[in-house]
Amino acid sequence: MTDYPYVPGLAGVPAARTSVCYLDGNIGKLQYRGYPIEVLAEHCTFEEVTYLLLFGKLPTRNELAAFDAELKSERRLKFRIIDVLKQLPESGHPMDALTAAVATMGMFYPGDHVEDAEFRRLTVVRIIAKLPTIVAAWHRIRRGDDPIKPREDLGHAANFLYMLDGRVPSKTAERVFDVGLILHAEHSMNASTFSARVTGSTLADPYAVVASAVGTLAGPLHGGANERVLSMLQTIGESSPAAVRHWAEDRLARKDKIMGFGHREYKVKDPRAVILQRLAVQLFDEMGATPIYDTAVELERQMADLVGKKGIYPNVDFYSGIVYERLGIPIELFTPIFAIARVSGWLAHLLEQLQDNRIFRPNQIWTGQVDREFTPIDER
Ligand code: ACO
Repeated sequence: MTDYPYVPGLAGVPAARTSVCYLDGNIGKLQYRGYPIEVLAEHCTFEEVTYLLLFGKLPTRNELAAFDAELKSERRLKFRIIDVLKQLPESGHPMDALTAAVATMGMFYPGDHVEDAEFRRLTVVRIIAKLPTIVAAWHRIRRGDDPIKPREDLGHAANFLYMLDGRVPSKTAERVFDVGLILHAEHSMNASTFSARVTGSTLADPYAVVASAVGTLAGPLHGGANERVLSMLQTIGESSPAAVRHWAEDRLARKDKIMGFGHREYKVKDPRAVILQRLAVQLFDEMGATPIYDTAVELERQMADLVGKKGIYPNVDFYSGIVYERLGIPIELFTPIFAIARVSGWLAHLLEQLQDNRIFRPNQIWTGQVDREFTPIDER
């Protein structure tokens, strides 16, 4: 029994006290550790933002260099983890391969002493460093190619792009991708972060924590939306106002969700979508435009007219797929890339959770019967 009202999806119900991420969705204000996302996206690298999220302060130059060196030294995968990846069916989704590989890491690096601060730091760095290597390795293995070893002379973003196809990205591509990682690194108590905190609250090892968060992120209502946005824009195929409006009206009439729109927290356009849209335009200036962008802009315009009143505006996923596509990244890697970024936020929340831990154990509203009379199987 409980006296609390039932709130579907726990909308608006606080699940933790936190100082990791501040979010005011009514005015589109997003800050990591008190720093506006716009400022971090303009001045920082993903490594610097990760340090900020994990340890609560901006690093000095020396601190960042030491942290960066730690990350680089942890990028390689044990060959037996690569062997595990090789056993997975190539038709499987990369998010499932990522879940499996992260869970496997828990067997190679025993993680049953999470209450030890030094162990926690080492494990957190190891997971953040290795996730891109796992995603890139699986991407190549499933196509029949050998994985490419990480390079220590490249930053986190450039090294990931390099491990996909062996080409060092241009400075613009590196920077755009790096900003994409920063924008996806953290976002308060979203579903995957909640998952991470729940698993972490049992003192499970950090590999299990990240495996559960990756599984949660995979769903189409969360991280999986970015893949679907691109397919959706490709399906619309046109950018004329009449065609786009007709498509959107038809979808809304059928009560279908339009991917890349809407957010539990935001009632205005997601500030990350604003930054990503600007980046997309910069990228097109250098690399040439994609027609799909025009479809996206028109869809945003029509949706503002159709459902703007309900507070349904583009979220971060609306423009991220367009940017990644222009960088030549295959669509099935969009959600794993989200995980490569969000792992910093998950682990920042894990560290915070463990500082003052209490196991999650919510209540329920009983809707079944009680005290039923049992009928033996032969008499039913
Ligand atoms: N398209 C059409 N209508 C929508 C959309 C959408 N994308 N999003 C919300 N609505 C409508 C709902 O139909 C509902 O209308 P109603 O009140 O007339 O029934 C109303 O807005 C409220 O929607 P909910 O689903 O209750 O909102 P909730 O906060 O539970 O869901 C969510 C948020 C899951 C993100 C939802 O907006 C959605 O499914 N969007 C599409 C998927 C997507 O882009 N996900 C990425 C989210 S961001 C991220 O994870 C990084």
